[in-house]
Amino acid sequence: MSKHRSIAIDGPSGAGKSTLARALARALGYLYVDTGAIYRTVGLQAFRTGTDPEDGAAVTALLSGLDIGLGYGEDGEQRMYLNGEDVSQAIRRHEISHYASCVSALPQVRAFLLDRQRQLAREHDVVMDGRDIGTVVLPQADVKIFLTAAPEARARRRWLELGQRGEQTDYDTVLRDVLDRDEKDTHRSAAPLRQAEDAVLADTTQLDLKQSLDLLIHIAKEQLQA
Ligand code: DC
Repeated sequence: MSKHRSIAIDGPSGAGKSTLARALARALGYLYVDTGAIYRTVGLQAFRTGTDPEDGAAVTALLSGLDIGLGYGEDGEQRMYLNGEDVSQAIRRHEISHYASCVSALPQVRAFLLDRQRQLAREHDVVMDGRDIGTVVLPQADVKIFLTAAPEARARRRWLELGQRGEQTDYDTVLRDVLDRDEKDTHRSAAPLRQAEDAVLADTTQLDLKQSLDLLIHIAKEQLQA
């Protein structure tokens, strides 16, 4: 059986990972896997059941009754299912980001989701984005990219995106949330966000979407040939 190709894209929230990883996958004909959406689905269940997302024992108890489905719609977009319900929109709500960040710090949650992510890469050519893809989930990935941008640029992009979706928040709140999540994601003991030694750094602070995508395609093609 031929080995599938994998491209790992990690970086902090708001660096444009999902948009760029999705576009890169499309350009290469690979499957796009948004692993943050999987953590968000666990976070949503904690939110809905009134579970403290920082309480390891309580969240672990939730996992046993949790049926998380990952599929692709006719439009090719990834869809998340929670006990059969399509929650692809619900997991994007602003308050769920906090829940996702908390549950993703729990080693039990990470262990629960690890093999599922690896299985996708065994079965498909993937562009997978997250925080620990190049370091933990797919350490043998063919291409590793660490995508980042200054916190202010990331907060501004997130704020515009929320506004377009009709969620009214002020920029300072979004910036505070970005900094707070950076702090949590980089300082947790379980698979903290960090650049893999063999990852290529892509900083998009000064780049628009097209320039960022061109950069990623360039890096991916170069590394796939290497
Ligand atoms: O990328 P995102 O904002 O949708 O991710 C939601 C949360 O999940 C974020 O706080 C970090 C966490 N996460 C993670 O710990 N590991 C991943 N591979 C992906 C996301």
